[in-house]
Formats: sequence, C-alpha cells, structure tokens
Amino acid sequence: MIDFQIVDTYDELCRRGADIIAAQIQKKPNSVLGLATGSSPVGIYQNLIARYRSGELDFSKITSVNLDEYVGLGGDHPQSYRYFMQKNLFDSVNIDPKKTFVPNGLAEDSAAECAAYDRKIEELGGIDLQLLGIGLDGHIGFNEPGDCFVESTHLVALHPSTIAANARFFESVDEVPRSALTMGIGSIMRARKILLIANGAAKKEIVQKAVSGPVTPQIQASVLQLHPDVTVIYSKD
Ligand code: F6R
Repeated sequence: MIDFQIVDTYDELCRRGADIIAAQIQKKPNSVLGLATGSSPVGIYQNLIARYRSGELDFSKITSVNLDEYVGLGGDHPQSYRYFMQKNLFDSVNIDPKKTFVPNGLAEDSAAECAAYDRKIEELGGIDLQLLGIGLDGHIGFNEPGDCFVESTHLVALHPSTIAANARFFESVDEVPRSALTMGIGSIMRARKILLIANGAAKKEIVQKAVSGPVTPQIQASVLQLHPDVTVIYSKD
C-alpha cells in the first residue's frame, strides 16, 4: 500500500520526510536506516542535522546501509557516494563511523563484495526504514529498467539516461562511471518501511507511473506497490 502525498514545496517534502525518519529513530534508537544519495535527499539530511544539533535526535546507536556506489571511485573521491554521505550527513551527526556501510566501489571482486554486503544487511537484521530517490527512468538504487527485478546486491551497467542525468555532478559526461554496485530489489522490498521522495516537474510523470501504473521491471520503482508500508512524497518544485 502506498501513501502518496503531494506537497507544493521541496521544503515541505523535507520536513515531512525528516519527520518520518526522526519518528523511526525515536521509536527505535538502534534502527538500521537504508540511505540514498543524489540531490533529492540533501534537504532531508540538512533537516536531520538541524534536529540533531537541537538535541532532538541521537544517532549514536543507528546503523546505516547505503543503496549504492559507483564502481571505480574510492571513498575519498568527491563524487563517490561514500564521500557524499560523509559530507551531507555522517560528518555532522554522532553516528558511529564503524556502523555506516556503503558498497566498496574499489572492490577487486565485485561479486564477493556484493555477497558480503547482502550478508551484512542480513546480520543487521534487515533494514527498518529505507529512504529512496527515483531516477527519471524509474530506477531505485541503481536498479535500471530491464526484464526482471534483481533480488540481491549486484553489479549494474548504468543506463545512458542515468549517466546523462548524473553528468551534472562531474566535470564532463565522460567522467561518469559506467557501472555501479547496487542493493537489489529484494533487500529494498524486505525493508520494514520505505520512504520514496521526488521533487520537480521532470519527475512528475515517472512518479505517477511508479505509484499507480502497472507493476513492471521496466519501471523498477513500480514494485513498491507490492510493499505493505510505503510513503511517497512528491513536491512540485
Ligand atoms: C542514489 C540512488 C539513485 C537516486 C536517483 C535520483 O543513492 O540510489 O536511485 O536516488 O538517481 O537521483 P536524484 O535525487 O539526484 O534525482
């Protein structure tokens, strides 16, 4: 069941999104949070940092598992997702660095890295709350349109539209990595609660298809319709 909320502003989206995450942390201080990168969650992370600074939130018992990482980028590369998480959240709250997990984009054996990542999520007892953005092609994590839903963490070739969309973060499109490691749809769907956020006119159509169109691997986010506890917040700006 999807609780689909449409709000006018990105500020309002961030407030509501942060409310949901804050409620999870307060209810279960040792929650496992599944986290996302990209532009959509930045304001939510800022909101969570403000709540931490005001004493409302404590991250000391939280564990985080991120959705994905570019292959070939180390954690000190400014466009890596590990670096993004440090700069946009981890460095500004009291989360234990040893309890923050992001797939290793430099792993020599990507299959072993993916298997280890899935084992880690299992050992942690699964994800309590998974935060998701959505790509223009309907991807969640980097699960790109295809003929099936892939269950576990895997190596994926990025779709040309994803490479083009993410070029804004790099000096040129040629620098965008062509592949990534991503959590699979199985791990995402096993999260006990899911929050998907999207903002701006360009995402309107894909969000509508994901929320109320046919469930199809051509639009990977549509699988969320089969999850019992999903909130989607879309803002117009
Ligand atoms: C990022 C991720 C991606 C993004 C999606 C939207 O960890 O998994 O699925 O959420 O590409 O990106 P933005 O928010 O930059 O439009």
